[in-house]
Amino acid sequence: MKISVIGAGNVGATCANVLATYDIVNEVVLLDIKQGVAEGKALDMWQASHIIGYSTRVTGVTNDYTATAGSDVVVITSGLPRKPGMTRDDLINTNAAIVKSVTENVVKHSPNTIIIVVSNPLDVMTYCAYLNAGLPSTQVMGMAGILDTARYQAFLATELNCSPKDVQAMLLGGHGDTMVPLPRYTTVSGIPVTEFVEAGRLDEIINRTKSGGGEIVNLMGTSAWYAPGAAAAQMVQSIVKNEDRIFPVCAWLQGEYGLKDIYLGVPVKLGKGGIKEIIELDLNDAEKALLYKSADAVREVCSVLDATA
Ligand code: LAC
Repeated sequence: MKISVIGAGNVGATCANVLATYDIVNEVVLLDIKQGVAEGKALDMWQASHIIGYSTRVTGVTNDYTATAGSDVVVITSGLPRKPGMTRDDLINTNAAIVKSVTENVVKHSPNTIIIVVSNPLDVMTYCAYLNAGLPSTQVMGMAGILDTARYQAFLATELNCSPKDVQAMLLGGHGDTMVPLPRYTTVSGIPVTEFVEAGRLDEIINRTKSGGGEIVNLMGTSAWYAPGAAAAQMVQSIVKNEDRIFPVCAWLQGEYGLKDIYLGVPVKLGKGGIKEIIELDLNDAEKALLYKSADAVREVCSVLDATA
């Protein structure tokens, strides 16, 4: 199996590094437009292979898409990250042009690959990749829900002083302030979270989750990479090992949840071939209202993309 990661910035490099340490594929190719950056980072990772104990061959190239030929999965991380004061949507024009050209290059050399988009604004960039890839929607998806859920799980683990491994949660919607964490589907080792945290405090944790990416941008002056890179690697793992894991993923909706022709975060089953199934939850009215509000926010930015396409 061969995986390519486009963009050797912090997110792309972390994703490649986590994938290598998983030791589940033969080859990871890291590609970047900046001369030498992907080569250098890939060489550094390859030199860690004996220490960590993996066989995955990591190589880097400068803008040479022929090196990505025959990839089973391609992770697209290219584009500018946020700076303090910016929303993810502020990145649309710059990143749409980048994602379009990257997608075209990717499918030229891997015509039946599976694409995982990580570039922001996430839902709209996934739509952009879908428009330009010419692949079935089951093979084009975006990474956001695993990251947003992981932030929610981490905050809950801090609150309860328990292992994040025991916090199960589901979250829907776009990768922005309108994302929809679902307390009704949040448990700690199977126990409803409401037995541990009172409603007001849970709301505070949910609000912190919604601006979890922004919190990091404000601290560091640029956006996060450890959790985003690891989240994309986890999606790759479920696909290449055909694990059929159920994750929140940015997927193309065709009537599910009453929504059509939109990329939005929903639970899916991820395995060989990509998205095997979109899982429809029986939402109550309040949850539906939040999801629709999130869909409206994503559609608004998509219309900017459609207008410039
Ligand atoms: C974040 C960026 C990667 O949420 O969207 O940190």
